[in-house]
Amino acid sequence: MQQGQAIIERIRRISAGVQRLELAVEKPHQAISGGQFFLARTDSAYGPYLREAWLPIAVRENVVIVERPTRYAYLPNQVIDLLGPIGRPFPLRSSARTLLLIAYEATPAIFLLMLQSALARQCAATLVLIGQARRYPFEALPPALEVTLAEYHERWAEREQQIAWADQIFAAAPPPYDIPAYLRLLEDVQRIRQAIGPETLYGVFQPPMPCGIGACQACLVRLQSGDEMLACIDGLAFDLTRVNLLQNLPNSPGA
Ligand code: FES
Repeated sequence: MQQGQAIIERIRRISAGVQRLELAVEKPHQAISGGQFFLARTDSAYGPYLREAWLPIAVRENVVIVERPTRYAYLPNQVIDLLGPIGRPFPLRSSARTLLLIAYEATPAIFLLMLQSALARQCAATLVLIGQARRYPFEALPPALEVTLAEYHERWAEREQQIAWADQIFAAAPPPYDIPAYLRLLEDVQRIRQAIGPETLYGVFQPPMPCGIGACQACLVRLQSGDEMLACIDGLAFDLTRVNLLQNLPNSPGA
């Protein structure tokens, strides 16, 4: 992980709520993979605000494209201070041929860089947008991707077939939606598939990350084994059959 500067080369609005920034980045930041992200600072290094998580959706040589909400204003040639890449690449199995991606209540941007490599190697992929995630401008997604919309988890009508179909499943929900969504999903996957193999079902954990370098322990994820891992170092994706979801609820005794 490195700290460095990026320059906004181009800004493109793709919907009322989403804009794409093309960032010219330094060499260490070009080597970013699906599932990793940057912590970005737009004010001076001494500003009071925490860095924000910026999710890359595509990489082209020295340009990384990130998505940001349009409520934030940026300018061409603006200099951004980046820390990253943070986290580990999503553990996409080389044998996986069918991929189910589920975004609850927020943008599916965290999946888009992984999706690029999955589609390039002929994986079939389905993206499910649930709740507020349905507002994402899915017209901007690759045409090879199948998209399903649902008002909430129980209204996801195709979930039996799609869960049974997928070689790997990745779900992403921001706090506080993450644990309740992952509990419902885990229950469904256990019911539909009976046995869940290793490296099959992952949840993306995106707690606030004040440092991003493993120093502050603010992003702990508790496992069934009693071990604790850090989302900024070991995540963002964790095998949901290994995570102690109840212990990760905000008001649980261990939290
Ligand atoms: S954000 Fe500080 S340890 Fe993860």
